[in-house]
Amino acid sequence: MVVPESGDKMYPPPADLQRDAHVPDFNSYLALYRKSLDDPEAFWKEVADDFFWKTPATGPMLQYNFDVTKGSVYVKCMEGARTNVCYNVLDRHVRDGSLGEKVAYYWEGNSPDNRETITYRQLLSRVCRCANVLKLMGVKKGDRVSIYLPMIPELVYTMLACARIGAIHSVVFAGFSSESLGERIADAQSAVLVTADGVFRGEKLINLKQIADEALQKCREKASRSVAKCLVVRHHALRIRAGAASNKLQTPWDPERDVWWDEAVAAAPDECEPEWLDAEEPLFILHTSGSTGKPKGVLHTTAGYLLYTSLTFKYVFDHHHDDVFWCTADIGWITGHSYITYGPLANGASSVLFEGTPVHPHVGRFWEIIEKYKVTKFYTAPTAIRLLMRYGGEPLQKYDLSSLRILGSVGEPINPEAWQWFHEAVGGGRCPVVDTFWQTETGGHVLTPLPAATPLKPGSATFPFFGVEPAVLNESGEELEGEAEGYLVFRRPWPGIMRSVYKNHERFENTYFKKFPGFYVTGDGCRRDKDGYYWITGRIDDMLNVSGHLMSTAEVEAALAEHPAVAEAAAVSRPHRVKGECLYCFVTLKERREFSRSLEDELKTLVREKIGPIATPDFIQNAPALPKTRSGKIMRRILRQIARNEEDLGDVSTLADPKVVELLISQRCQAAA
Ligand code: WT7
Repeated sequence: MVVPESGDKMYPPPADLQRDAHVPDFNSYLALYRKSLDDPEAFWKEVADDFFWKTPATGPMLQYNFDVTKGSVYVKCMEGARTNVCYNVLDRHVRDGSLGEKVAYYWEGNSPDNRETITYRQLLSRVCRCANVLKLMGVKKGDRVSIYLPMIPELVYTMLACARIGAIHSVVFAGFSSESLGERIADAQSAVLVTADGVFRGEKLINLKQIADEALQKCREKASRSVAKCLVVRHHALRIRAGAASNKLQTPWDPERDVWWDEAVAAAPDECEPEWLDAEEPLFILHTSGSTGKPKGVLHTTAGYLLYTSLTFKYVFDHHHDDVFWCTADIGWITGHSYITYGPLANGASSVLFEGTPVHPHVGRFWEIIEKYKVTKFYTAPTAIRLLMRYGGEPLQKYDLSSLRILGSVGEPINPEAWQWFHEAVGGGRCPVVDTFWQTETGGHVLTPLPAATPLKPGSATFPFFGVEPAVLNESGEELEGEAEGYLVFRRPWPGIMRSVYKNHERFENTYFKKFPGFYVTGDGCRRDKDGYYWITGRIDDMLNVSGHLMSTAEVEAALAEHPAVAEAAAVSRPHRVKGECLYCFVTLKERREFSRSLEDELKTLVREKIGPIATPDFIQNAPALPKTRSGKIMRRILRQIARNEEDLGDVSTLADPKVVELLISQRCQAAA
């Protein structure tokens, strides 16, 4: 047991969970953690033994160089081994195991009466059909396939079909704009795009195919290579409301390029031999915001990602055969890749796949779904918790949530108030809350409690997962011991860490390994308390986190600067009671341009169109000038303080023109969003 020296209140693991848990107490965690660091070879070998390898590894479980000063940074897991991720997450259960008739997904659509149950056997056969369609379209091993789909089963089918034939999937969140989609397709140089005709988000009908067409048009203008084929899913809900909705939709069509999904899969065989890949061959690319504004194509590979997502899922959610797991994230983000698609399937789990939103058609939707499918493990984001908290306890009381055993949180620091509400109102005080810290780059959880082993402190991601060795550094790169606050870094790789930035290894090294040679730099600050618990204090680079989605200020500023009236723009974050952080933007207009309500709306729309609705600024302030140092660098610290309504702005003497600050203070936006 951890002995609290801090006097902090701790929540011990529930005894009933400990009885049959994989890691039943803190000492077991410590022993396994020690083993994972002292003998990683034996530790990961044992994990790998659960999977199918066409040929065994000839190299060690992990090989790496993290020190840029000693040569190129690399990580290799199980060199020489050959396998197929799709085979391991499907065929292994259906053919060699006994899970063919087990439910893989309970799909629940945007509308509560759209649903479907998909068994492992059905999943395998649909994935094979899709794989055959992709092959017919000319997709070969190593080719990229972009996927722009809502949360429908076809999204999972397509990812796994890619994995089956060795194609590299690049999923783009379906809330992204045509601009963002086009940029990501061009960066991946995809051969094929898979999308849908449209989707209902709440009551709103969105013409996805039209957005996709605009993106492809932009790609053609920019890139040398263009998408040859576009596979289009006819959305179930639109088919049902055929007369009304799909007529309104007007799906644009290029007969040379576009193919309807249902027609293509109906004609395709439902068996497809998997392609055997080397352990380090790519599995997927997923773009994440970069501090320069251009998104980075985070590259994950075959064996390491499979081992790591599988093991974190098993231990962090203490998975058992009869569980029903529900992760509310969108598969367009890494959380969905690792804990809707790969981690759960690798464990033969049953999951809920939910297309809708937490408040449609009513604010009790999440609780209704938990009751309906008897969800046992529920994984969501602080922003969703804060949103639902505002409706009080009443919407919860209508539903039976007694099936819940473990709750999880991801995406941003969870404030104690939201933690308490999640723990008490949702979990009835019985369920541990696993606050999982990780990143697109880490592939899976890196700091996290284990539900039956770790005494919890609300707001702390607690301790490192197996194989992960964190350190806290100060600005000069010195390692801090004991109680400390500084940069959160990792000293060595674990199997699931990213391998590169797609087609830009230099950017990978510069972003994550240059600042402190020998360490992977997360970009987050953290505090380690007296008891050794880690607390994430937030980003220390020019990134912000809106509703659990990371975005760069540069990206938003670039969008604003495209407006003909804007001379210069600076975006900072401001705390928001639901989103965690929201965007507060300062714009300096060109001469003779006037600031107005309509200009403000135009600017908001512009960012929305350029990046997507999640990036819509909450505040836009007219800034006759921006606070700059004498060397011309914008002092964001001051802008952040102005945005946060702070009175004391500290030392402003380094500014070229300190008067700018008073002017900005007098004009700051007050209204709550
Ligand atoms: C950034 C990564 C990991 C999937 C979702 C986001 C923040 C993530 C936590 C947490 C505090 C967290 C960090 C991190 N973050 N989880 N439990 N506590 N902060 O993936 O878009 O790659 O963002 O999200 O700042 O660096 P992502």
